[in-house]
Amino acid sequence: VRRPLIVANWKMHLVRAQAVRLAEEVAGRVEDVRGPEIILCPPATWLEAVGRVIAGTSLRLGAQTMHWEAQGAYTGEISPPMLVDAGCRAVILGHSERRIYFGETDETVGLKVKAAFAHGLLPIPCVGERFEEREAGDTDGIIERQVGSVVRAATGGAGGLAIAYEPVWAIGTGLTATSVEANRVAAMIRRLIREAEGGPAADAVRVLYGGSVKPDNTREFLREPDIDGALVGGASLDAGAFSEIVRAAAE
Ligand code: 13P
Repeated sequence: VRRPLIVANWKMHLVRAQAVRLAEEVAGRVEDVRGPEIILCPPATWLEAVGRVIAGTSLRLGAQTMHWEAQGAYTGEISPPMLVDAGCRAVILGHSERRIYFGETDETVGLKVKAAFAHGLLPIPCVGERFEEREAGDTDGIIERQVGSVVRAATGGAGGLAIAYEPVWAIGTGLTATSVEANRVAAMIRRLIREAEGGPAADAVRVLYGGSVKPDNTREFLREPDIDGALVGGASLDAGAFSEIVRAAAE
């Protein structure tokens, strides 16, 4: 049995006081919830502050991106050991916003997956097709290509990944894939891992759905056999909505 995983991606939102307050509110509201693993991914500047708030709770800290090198002349970048030192246990990699606006490629996402494993961080690589790609019937090819590079980078450890399927057209739009279609893609991701690494890895890997996840649609996605959790953007900025999503995952 795979443990459900709910990840809050706060993106580039919140100044310090807001981030601390949101973490406090979420921690208070999910204190009694047993079952799902919960990871908060604040902006990098608030990792330590949020880490202090959630220390001693069941909430874990994650980052939204990182570089793959441990150190070096890479102005503005943050390395895996820096994230570990700040208290992170996980890192979102290759989010579509990073692929679209910051030039991340399958190749750099692969390097980051390798680096995350090397430094003991749970890699949460993101895959997903754009609207035009879906319209052109290219969804499966895009997913195969993106997952392929992640799985190659995992070099035998794909069972330890949490792969987020986020159709780009569903992010921040209020549109969602149907749960049946999201599960079809999640099952395909699991099949690709079975083909690459065998049954145990395919059974272990967690596949998350992301894209306009809200309290009222969480159950529908998590009911699907191949969807093990959610990567939540907008709704994770609201402690009430996010804690309802966590509760739905605990049912
Ligand atoms: P929304 O939940 O705001 O659609 O964002 C999804 C997302 O990109 C999470 O990483």
